[in-house]
Amino acid sequence: MSFEDAGILCSGSSGWGFEALAEHLAQVLSVPVVHHPAKFNYVLAYDELDKIGENAWFIPYEGIHIASDKRQVARRFHTAKVSSPQTLLCADIESAQQKVLQDPSRRWCLKYPTSTGATGHRLFNAGTNIPTDWPLPIVLQEFIALARPEVYRTYCAGGEFFGWVVRRHPDVNSKDPWVAHARGAQYCDCGDIPKKAVNVATDALRATGLLQSFGCVDLLFSPSQGWVVLEVGTDGIFNHVDRDLGIPHLEHEIDLRLADAFWHRVRALGTTL
Ligand SMILES: Nc1ncnc2c1ncn2[C@@H]1O[C@H](COP(=O)(O)OP(=O)(O)OP(=O)(O)O)[C@@H](O)[C@H]1O
Ligand SMILES: [Mg+2]
Repeated sequence: MSFEDAGILCSGSSGWGFEALAEHLAQVLSVPVVHHPAKFNYVLAYDELDKIGENAWFIPYEGIHIASDKRQVARRFHTAKVSSPQTLLCADIESAQQKVLQDPSRRWCLKYPTSTGATGHRLFNAGTNIPTDWPLPIVLQEFIALARPEVYRTYCAGGEFFGWVVRRHPDVNSKDPWVAHARGAQYCDCGDIPKKAVNVATDALRATGLLQSFGCVDLLFSPSQGWVVLEVGTDGIFNHVDRDLGIPHLEHEIDLRLADAFWHRVRALGTTL
């Protein structure tokens, strides 16, 4: 397979939302942005997904789809026993309230299943109400209280982990429990990723089908459980991995590692396409 057979696929009704990333990836991977599927694609946006062959995705559709919905992530993590805060899928609000009443010593939150930037998440107790159109099943998760809320992230391209950053609100006294970049949290470089965190991050990406392509993993350090995974992220269709880190060397490393992983796959497929 050659240069002409690979592309950054970005078109259709949601293409506008991925244009900047598509241009960036085109530079980084040295492949053109295409409006129709190439033989092998970094798929960002396209309306007729069934027209893209199963082996024509760098990041597999299944992984992209799972990462976009916290209900699916919870199912995968449960099946693969990925270390994560206890997460229950509840058929309705009454059963979520019952679970909380059964275990009052813990704190709980509801996660909006397709949220980004923590939009919709809320701390939950037996009296908390939710909008009637809240998507089912309800994602009820143990809330890990931390003296200063923070969340760690690592990245993986082509099966290799790199980067270890922490996200915190700049105000050390902030009690906002949702440490999202979109809510003003900032990234800091933390150096080497601890071995135990790599192990659980590997489990998380394997369980969601993203280990061999590209993904990031968000982790918390739970005082009682150690490293636990909150979720995984990746590029395409619904979302993309945040590259606005304020850490230039890591932003550059993401580009280099992605290019390596992408071209490694292109070369491996060369004989089979
Ligand atoms: N169970 C939990 N215990 C403690 N803090 C949590 C928990 N779940 C989420 N958080 C906090 O809320 C933040 C956002 O949660 P999460 O990543 O699940 O939502 P999101 O909408 O996907 O946000 P983002 O776009 O930042 O990924 C986390 O980074 C973390 O700071
Ligand atoms: Mg997220």
